[in-house]
Amino acid sequence: MQRENFGSQFGAIMAMTGSAVGLGNLWRFPYMVGVYGGAAFVLVYVIVVFLLCLPILNSEMIAGRRSQTNAFGAFKVLAPGTKWKWVGALMIFTPLVVLSYYSVIGGWSLEYLYKSVCFDFTSVAHTRQELDSIFGNFISSVWTPLIWHTVFLGVTALIVVLGVKKGIETFGKIMMPLLFLLVILIAVRAATLPGAGEGFAYLFKPDFSRITPAVCAAALGQGFFSLSVGFGIMLTYASYMNRKDSIGKSSVLIAVSDTMFALIASCAIMPAVFAFGLSPEAGPSLLFEVLPFIFSQMPLGGVVAILFFVALLVAALTSSVSILEVGVAYLVEEKHLSRKFAALIIFLGTWLVGILCSLSFGPLSDMRIFGDILFDFLDRFTSNILMTLGALLIVIFVGWKMNRDDVRNEFTNGGTLKGSGKLFGPMYLVIRYLAPIAILVIMFSNIFAS
Ligand code: PFF
Repeated sequence: MQRENFGSQFGAIMAMTGSAVGLGNLWRFPYMVGVYGGAAFVLVYVIVVFLLCLPILNSEMIAGRRSQTNAFGAFKVLAPGTKWKWVGALMIFTPLVVLSYYSVIGGWSLEYLYKSVCFDFTSVAHTRQELDSIFGNFISSVWTPLIWHTVFLGVTALIVVLGVKKGIETFGKIMMPLLFLLVILIAVRAATLPGAGEGFAYLFKPDFSRITPAVCAAALGQGFFSLSVGFGIMLTYASYMNRKDSIGKSSVLIAVSDTMFALIASCAIMPAVFAFGLSPEAGPSLLFEVLPFIFSQMPLGGVVAILFFVALLVAALTSSVSILEVGVAYLVEEKHLSRKFAALIIFLGTWLVGILCSLSFGPLSDMRIFGDILFDFLDRFTSNILMTLGALLIVIFVGWKMNRDDVRNEFTNGGTLKGSGKLFGPMYLVIRYLAPIAILVIMFSNIFAS
């Protein structure tokens, strides 16, 4: 069967950046910065992304393009007849779990976009407490979040059904640059608020005493989540890449743009938090509770709110599309289903789990797993265990199981890319030794420190 490919390197990079840049950058990163001590977390995060996550991203891309198939098939092609195919199964399973709760937050973004378009945050003056209870009442209600969750997931499935080239590539090509401009615009607006300087100091002047094992572990988990590594997503996307494209160059561009997005998003949020005397440590509610308050206090806040939630939604959609694509590629190539049918099956499965996640904020809040509501449990379980395990196994696979020459050839396009040739040695050492050891050390030191 002839596989569809990305039409250009630009399209491939845009689609992969689209997968990487999402709620992880705009919603998760800023609140993690607040919870884990500001600039100290930012510093550790940047080091972790470029030293560890980037080589892991390269490993996934090498395995994907080498095998020319989905995350499950890749391990069967590259290590036939071995148990490695179960790593592939893990890589199909993890993103689908993520999608079920990701689309719930995607649904929240839709609700907040809707509220912004109705100028709900700016037409009447709301106190901070009122905005908190608007958010609390919304997420704990039954129907509205479920309707938005269904819309979000439905749109995601539609984009995937349109196919790799028409759907994902076109969407990524138009939306990612637009999104980048939008976030910069909001950051510029936030920077000109009186008192914004304190927010910048909080983001960029590290207090080294705050660097702890927990901060390192949180930064590592955030790096995986944000770059979409350890999920088989980059592996699947790389399998659609052209043989002439450079894996090294593409991965650096993806990591740089993803990190820039996260930093610019924080520059849009933290200075405003400080300018209005709010607490940066609000946690996951930071975006949805604090920002509308900030919008309501800003000149032109109504328009800024609409722009921001459009940006958030686009970011969430390009990521959710990539998550669904992993499962669809698997069902189409391994189970020979049609794209439409495959997308429908995954839609239904993740929709049902997503319903339970959404209800876990309201009627099902008493249903606890290890003390957590279902939503928190799935988030914690995927980011702390499944993602780290996936990333660890993929570097071990590429570093120890795959043939070194094959890895080198894939990374350097058969030796034709001189720059990649020079980089290969150090990168291979990181993949083989540093990455697995560092992941294990960070994991264990965090467990023993807590
Ligand atoms: N990396 C994306 C983000 O930062 O929002 C989202 C994401 C994609 C998370 C794929 C998980 C995943 F499996």
